[in-house]
Amino acid sequence: MDKADRLARLYQQLEDAAANLPLSSQASDIVPGEGNADAGVMLIGEAPGYHEHVQRRPFVGKSGQFLRQTLEEVGYPPASVYISNIVKARPPGNRDPAPAEIEAYKPFLDREIETIKPLLIVTLGRYSMAKFLSDVKISQVHGRLHKVVWKDDIRFVLPMFHPAAGLRSSQVKDQFTTDFRRLGEIVGWIEQNKDRYQLHQHIENVLL
Ligand code: URA
Repeated sequence: MDKADRLARLYQQLEDAAANLPLSSQASDIVPGEGNADAGVMLIGEAPGYHEHVQRRPFVGKSGQFLRQTLEEVGYPPASVYISNIVKARPPGNRDPAPAEIEAYKPFLDREIETIKPLLIVTLGRYSMAKFLSDVKISQVHGRLHKVVWKDDIRFVLPMFHPAAGLRSSQVKDQFTTDFRRLGEIVGWIEQNKDRYQLHQHIENVLL
């Protein structure tokens, strides 16, 4: 079974579990991840909003359009990457996801990551950043490449601002775009250097 098949099976299991998961009561409440199952870059957002819920696709509302347009501009068209969320159903009124909701969807997100095995995980906003990096502020670490040990494996994680924050502040918008313009350089660096890193090696976690 290839990666796309394994992801399709995972989403079927998620839909089957919809009635027992928070924020969802039926299969159609689930917003699956989408994109290239063989992608080197996986982006993880927070939670679906109204438009994502209706279309059952991640990042298709206003902030999603900004994200997708930025990806296009920096040479990573949305179809070439994989885009998913921490929670897979819409919190009412677009409120922040609660810890128990994040926990309930965690096994599914973890299996997505383990299936795709991306070269680079791009976190969008604080909630997905907190999955990999603790005790950091997004304003201090955005756009910096981090090496983390996750599930006994080395992962390269690039925390980015959430695109919605970019739509609220022109300063964050500029920073968001500037950070994304380095995506190609960062992916290239990982491709060249990843084999230098070994598990439990005591080296600086911030790499670039
Ligand atoms: N914001 C997110 O974090 N995810 C989406 O899918 C849409 C908006």
